[in-house]
Amino acid sequence: MTESYELTRPVFFVGFMGAGKTSVARRLARVCHVASVDMDTYLERREGKKVKEIFAESGEEGFRVLETDVLAELAAKEPLLVSCGGGVVTREENRAILARAGFVVHLKVSADEAAGRISDTSTRPLFQDLEAARARCGERAPLYEGVADATVDTAGKSVFAIAREVQDVLVEEGVLCQQRK
Ligand code: S3P
Repeated sequence: MTESYELTRPVFFVGFMGAGKTSVARRLARVCHVASVDMDTYLERREGKKVKEIFAESGEEGFRVLETDVLAELAAKEPLLVSCGGGVVTREENRAILARAGFVVHLKVSADEAAGRISDTSTRPLFQDLEAARARCGERAPLYEGVADATVDTAGKSVFAIAREVQDVLVEEGVLCQQRK
C-alpha cells in the first residue's frame, strides 16, 4: 500500500529569495505524490526567456506584469504546490489572488542566511548586494506575514525537515488529505 495524498486547494510557497521554496515544494511533491510547479521556471518556459533576460529587456515592472499573469494561470489549475518568486507579494493584485485561491505557506529566512544558500546570484537580478537584500527582506517581511496562512522558520533546518513540517501543517489544515490506494 502506498501513501498517496490529494490537495484540496493550491498551496503557494512565499518567502524571500533563498528561503528554499522550490526545493521544499519539490521534496513535498515527491513524498506525497502530488504535482509541484516553480513559477519562475513556468514563466521562463512560457516566455522562452530567462528571468534575468526579462529584467534586462523590460525591467522589474515588465517582469511583474508577466508574473501576475502566470500566478493567475496557475491559481486556476487543478490544485498544485506552487513555489512563487520572492517578489510575488509586492503587488496588491497578487496578494489578492494568493488569499483568494489557496493556502499560503511563508518560508521565513533572513537575507544573511539566504545569501549563504544561494550559490549563483547572477540568476537573481534583485540579489546582487547583501545590504540591499537585507533592506528588501525587511520591507517585504510584513507582506509575507500578511498573506501567510502558516509560517515556517527555516533557520538552520534541512529541506527534509522543513518539508516534513509543512506536510504536518497542511494535513492538519485539511489542505493535504491522505488517500489509501
Ligand atoms: C525575485 C525573486 C526570484 C525571481 C526574480 C525576482 C524577487 O525568485 O522571481 O528574480 O523579487 O524576490 P526566487 O525567490 O525563486 O529566487
